[in-house]
Order: sequence, then C-alpha cells, then structure tokens
Amino acid sequence: MKRREFVKLSGAAAASAIMIPPTLQSCMDNMNMNMNMGSNAVPVKEGTFATSLSFPTVMSSNFTMKAKGNTASLLINQNASVFGYADGILGPTIKVDTGTTVAIPFQNLLSEETNIHWHGLLVPANMDGHPKDVINSGGSFDFSLPINQRAGTYWYHPHPHGKTARQVFTGLAGFFIANDAEEQALNLPSGDRELLLVIQDKRIENGQLNYSPSMNEIMTGYTGEYILVNGAYAPFHNVSTQYYRMRILNGSTARVYNISLSDNLGFEVIGSDGGLLAQPVSVNSLLLGPGERVDILVSFKNLAVGKEIYLLSKTFDGGTQGQQEFKIMKFTVNQQVSDSFTTPSQLSMITPLTEASASRTRSMKIKGMMEGMNGNMAGNMGSGMHTINDKIYDLNRIDETIDAGATEIWDFDNSAGDEIHPMHIHGVQFQILSRTGGRGSLIASERGWKDTVLVMPREKVRVIMKFPQDKGVYVFHCHNLEHEDDGMMLNYEIV
Ligand code: C2O
Ligand code: CU
Ligand code: CU
Repeated sequence: MKRREFVKLSGAAAASAIMIPPTLQSCMDNMNMNMNMGSNAVPVKEGTFATSLSFPTVMSSNFTMKAKGNTASLLINQNASVFGYADGILGPTIKVDTGTTVAIPFQNLLSEETNIHWHGLLVPANMDGHPKDVINSGGSFDFSLPINQRAGTYWYHPHPHGKTARQVFTGLAGFFIANDAEEQALNLPSGDRELLLVIQDKRIENGQLNYSPSMNEIMTGYTGEYILVNGAYAPFHNVSTQYYRMRILNGSTARVYNISLSDNLGFEVIGSDGGLLAQPVSVNSLLLGPGERVDILVSFKNLAVGKEIYLLSKTFDGGTQGQQEFKIMKFTVNQQVSDSFTTPSQLSMITPLTEASASRTRSMKIKGMMEGMNGNMAGNMGSGMHTINDKIYDLNRIDETIDAGATEIWDFDNSAGDEIHPMHIHGVQFQILSRTGGRGSLIASERGWKDTVLVMPREKVRVIMKFPQDKGVYVFHCHNLEHEDDGMMLNYEIV
C-alpha cells in the first residue's frame, strides 16, 4: 500500500472522525506501523539440513481419504498437532492414468467441516469441492473423479470458506498426478529420480503450529519462519550424478518463492500447472506463487561426489516479500552414476487459443484494502479487505454467468494494487496472453497451461480459456489463502 494514500486517508479520518470506527482506526494504525518496517513477511530461519527428506505414500488404487488430527515431528524431537489425510501431516500422492474414473471415498474425522478441492482437475462441479459443498464433522462423501485431461502435476486441499487457509496450513494438502501415454513416451527421469516436493512455510511456536494472522497479516498474507518440504523442516536428499525430475508445488498460504539452485546451477522448465510445455526452457530462477506448480529437470551430472547443492529462494521484486534469500533444502551428491538421458527438444504440442476465438472479455479488478477503501468499508472491517470487482465472496450469489463451451478472455487487473495476488480459476486450464505493467512479460512456466497465475503489484494479466460443456457453479479466487478466506473469491456459473 502506498504511504501517500494512507496519509490522505488519515487526513480524511481526522476531518470526519465519525466515518472511521475505532477498530478500523487501530487497524490502520497497525498497518501504518508495519509499513514503516518495510517487510511484512517474517524472516526465514534456515536449519541445519540434517533431516532426511521423506515422500508421501503413492496410491494408485483403493483410495480412502480421512481428514483427521494427527501428530508429526515438524522440528526435531517435537510432536506437533497437525492435520493429515492419512498418518502424519499432508496426504498421500494420488497417481492415476488419464481416461480413468477415480473413486475416492472420503471421511471427515475432524471436529469441524471440511471438503476436498482437486486443484487443476477438470471435474464436474458437484465433485469440485465448492465451498457450499462441505462435509460436516463425522460425515463422509464419495468422490468420483473422471480424469479427462493432460498429464500434469495437480493437487488437492480443503475449500470450506473462511477455513481454507488454516486447514491447509495445519497439513491438509497432497499431490494428484495424472499420467498419459504422451508423457510416458518421453522417458523422463522416473522412480527415485522423480521428486515431488511441496514447499510450505509454517509459523511454529513451542513445537506447535501457530495459525493466528493479525489484521495486518490478513492484508499481506500469513508467513512462517520455517520452510518445510514434504512436511520436513530443512531436509536433505542424496542424489547421484544424473538428471532428476522435480515437480514442485508451492503449498504455502501466501509466500512466493523465487526457485533457484546454489552455485547458480541452471535448470530446465518442462512443465507448469497443466502439464508439459511444448519445449523445455533453461532458466536460473523461477517465481512460484501459492498454488502454482512447476516441473523441472535438474542435472547433477557434472558434479563431484560430496558436492552439496541447495534449493533456494532468491530475492525478488514485488510487494512486501522477496527481500530475503534463503535455503529451502539440500541435495548431496553421494554416488557416481553415468546417465545417457538428454532432454527431448519437443515435449508436447500446445495449440494457442486465439483472441479471435473469444466470445467476450471480462475485466476482473483485484484490490487490497487501501485501494478499495470507501464509505462502506467501515461496515465490514475484519473481512472484505480484498475484493474482486469491488465484491467480497457470497456463497449464494452468482457473479459471472458463462455459456457452456465458451472461449473467454479474463483480465486480472492489479495495476492500481500494491499486493501480490496469485489468481486461480476452478474448472478450467487457461493460457496467458499477456502481462502488462510490472514485470511486463511472461516467465518460462507461463508458456504452458495454467490454472493459477501470479499477478504482482502494478500488473495486468490477460488469460484465455475454453470453459467446459458441463453446467454448474465453480469459484475463482486469489490463492493467497488469507485473501481467499477474507472474501477475495467469486462464483461463476456455466449455463
Ligand atoms: Cu487450490 Cu480454489 O483452490
Ligand atoms: Cu482450484
Ligand atoms: Cu490476493
């Protein structure tokens, strides 16, 4: 937020004190204080990288999922209360072939309502985990998911409105991997050379997870000082002198990572949210926002046994985050193995959706509080500090009505904004047409199919997509989960 605007507002408040109730005034004071501190993200504490990385169980059939309270060791020798879909924190990795229908019986053993949303999957509206379709404590629901889409790195997490951030933070999330013949034929590194990595920051106090965002942290997003990979803090993983495929999910509520490797080791981006890119792209760093996934190839081929390489988040430009470089995990080369793998020059085919094929363009104005401040704001303090087209989420209101099968362009407009908004649409995969303002161009992972896109301060991002034929109500929202829970979400209905 801009200090100038705040000062202007403070002036207005002084002129008509009656407009601003005490709660709002203290909220504004609190924000003013924090603005002066420069960064609202808590500093990351790097660990010793002495814990061995573990991977969730892979399930390909006989699924059952139970959301329940568990304990897990998040920091060494400490038992934390967490949520999980099986034992410990997180959920199993579900791996299936496209063209199949997956039956997943689900039980809610939590003492609160929850549901499961299959992020990136193109499933019927009644299976999508819409916030109105919650499963009460003790209840159950049989998911049936027809998987008719490209191979890709998808994921699942709860979606009960107002509770999503805390439930995800507490441990409810997992990978959903779809395979297909096209990807199989590429013979990408697999088995123990295919690593699924979910990166999440956690605030931990006295060994326990602490989810208690202040008003200011609802504004910017809740960040943690401990960076976990697959539920383990500061882990290491032994690798051989070969190519590895890493499929990375940013499962954090609000933190953005600028993914890179130590020694400035480059890597190749081969896929994004919705599967393989057409061609690999070599990069040295890549921004990954909450909800986004990236599929990369890393070659440890020319490294000596004993060499240590860190997965890092480098500094980046944008809002209140990005001011600190930190290590996420360590790879230790412990074995010399010859590897004849070469990255295919062509990975897949991506047919661009053309602007001419779109039947209409919708403008989605995305806002944080200071930009959105107006007379009626004072009435809904504590929620609704973030809006899309000046609206906060209403479970029962249909905000956009879309013809089945229509191709549309949506403009996510953050050009007046100072906050980071990873915008996500359910029920479709989109292509990104352009980014204007801010970074002004697309990054490597944005040349493929996407379901979530980072819209940084000052940016306007234009996406195009073809909606499904199946009718029903879906949501789209900011995947900064504090923003989402605060109401930065709308319903759209396919008719
Ligand atoms: Cu992963 Cu509606 O979100
Ligand atoms: Cu989703
Ligand atoms: Cu947001």
